[in-house]
Amino acid sequence: MQMSITEVNSDNYTNNCKKAKMSEDSLPLHLDSIPPEVKKYLKPFLLSQEKLQEISARLKKNMIQGLGKHTHHKAPVKMLPTFVRATPDGTEKGDFLALDLGGTNFRVLYVRVMEEEQKVLKMDSQICAIPQDIMRGTGEQLFDHIAACLADFLDSQNLKGQTLPLGFTFSFPCEQIEIDKSILIHWTKGFSCSEVEGKDVVKLLRDAIHRRADYDIGSVAMVNDTVGTMMSCGYKDQSCEIGMIIGTGTNACYMEEMKNVKRVEGEDGRMCINTEWGGFGDDGSLEDIQTQFDVVVDKTSINPGIHIFEKMISGMYLGEIVRLLLVKLTEDKLLFKGKTSEALLTPGRFETRFISEIEEQDRGLKNCQNILTELGLKWDSVDVRLVRLVCDTVSIRSAHLCAAALATIVNRIRENRGLDYLKTTVGVDGTVYRKHPNFSDKLQAMVHRLAPNCSITFLVSEDGSGKGAAMVTAVAQRQALSHLLEDSDSDRKEDEEEDK
Ligand code: GLC
Repeated sequence: MQMSITEVNSDNYTNNCKKAKMSEDSLPLHLDSIPPEVKKYLKPFLLSQEKLQEISARLKKNMIQGLGKHTHHKAPVKMLPTFVRATPDGTEKGDFLALDLGGTNFRVLYVRVMEEEQKVLKMDSQICAIPQDIMRGTGEQLFDHIAACLADFLDSQNLKGQTLPLGFTFSFPCEQIEIDKSILIHWTKGFSCSEVEGKDVVKLLRDAIHRRADYDIGSVAMVNDTVGTMMSCGYKDQSCEIGMIIGTGTNACYMEEMKNVKRVEGEDGRMCINTEWGGFGDDGSLEDIQTQFDVVVDKTSINPGIHIFEKMISGMYLGEIVRLLLVKLTEDKLLFKGKTSEALLTPGRFETRFISEIEEQDRGLKNCQNILTELGLKWDSVDVRLVRLVCDTVSIRSAHLCAAALATIVNRIRENRGLDYLKTTVGVDGTVYRKHPNFSDKLQAMVHRLAPNCSITFLVSEDGSGKGAAMVTAVAQRQALSHLLEDSDSDRKEDEEEDK
């Protein structure tokens, strides 16, 4: 049985659904053709191009506020300096360790950066789960757990005797004081370990390693996953100056002109800024587009009021938004003949990966049937199509909001450089971007409309949080070296002058 929502007449939705003959894949969002009682819940998710432009303009103001010396403290979009001043130039090399903490798993990697072949090789890696009680326990427990995983890994690689430099991808908002000193502002994405907010994360890691006293690490570079993503793509394409993540959380970084980074001394060159765009809206500025479902997702999260934009976009929340919509439609007897199930009523049970499976082009409707059955729901073919429409609606909004935010960044880079036209590359990563069948197409099409004077290449990062972190460490070392040389050059001149 096939249907197209466009043929559905609002008076007799069900019958028309059954009569409709168009291809299963054509489920456009023509809300005019769906019944008003369904439409009233879906319409607030549809954002016009004008609205997205308005949102982009708001974000731009917030970004400027975040960069400002005197406005930063109250800015919802933090615009954090990363102390990464250069993208790779292809001369980096060496062996590194990388740690990656930011989702439900923690990874340890051994990475080799090879100058000759311009390659970053992952020699080996290990994944350790972070159990819920550690995600929500004390900071000491968390860092002891990390140090123990690292010890296991070093043992398995026979590396315990070496003190390798380490790139630490810590994907949470941190105020970076130096490349190796980074204060956690607040946890996001389900973490809430005590005694870490306001503290230097590198010190917590080193302290945990010293408590064990069975190995040591060399210099540390702290990296946000967006920065690792930008850097891992930057090795391949040196015009890559933006990194974007749409996964469990969402965020982006980009190369900003130093003269605009008012909180850091110096006017020359550029510095990578971790925007923490997930915090957009934390001052209430997105209330006009938050739906009743977004409000519930925020209120029932472990960090209400924090990362409002992220909660409308990223993988940690999309499934829950869909679940809440499905519950509401069922309560109103628009789905499943009004009968819910225990699973549907359980927060978190509708996983974000279901959205990707349901929206798959060929197998989507079949996947949807299986998922609904697993959730203990009794469905008919109309229910299946409506569930898919709900998924479509929620994921398109997410893609469009990301597009608005990315357009703000590319437009800013173009204006910063006084260019009529900007060609640039964005390194991207994250499960939502990678796994959803048409998220990337939707996002790219909308960015194109919102930033017509920019041509953007999207490069999916190959393990930005692992290899990219090693790359940041390598670039930091290269730069440290060049500073040293400059210093010794000038020292020499001074010495010569004194000799005269
Ligand atoms: C959250 C974090 C941010 C990270 C993003 C993607 O928004 O605050 O630092 O980059 O998730 O993982």
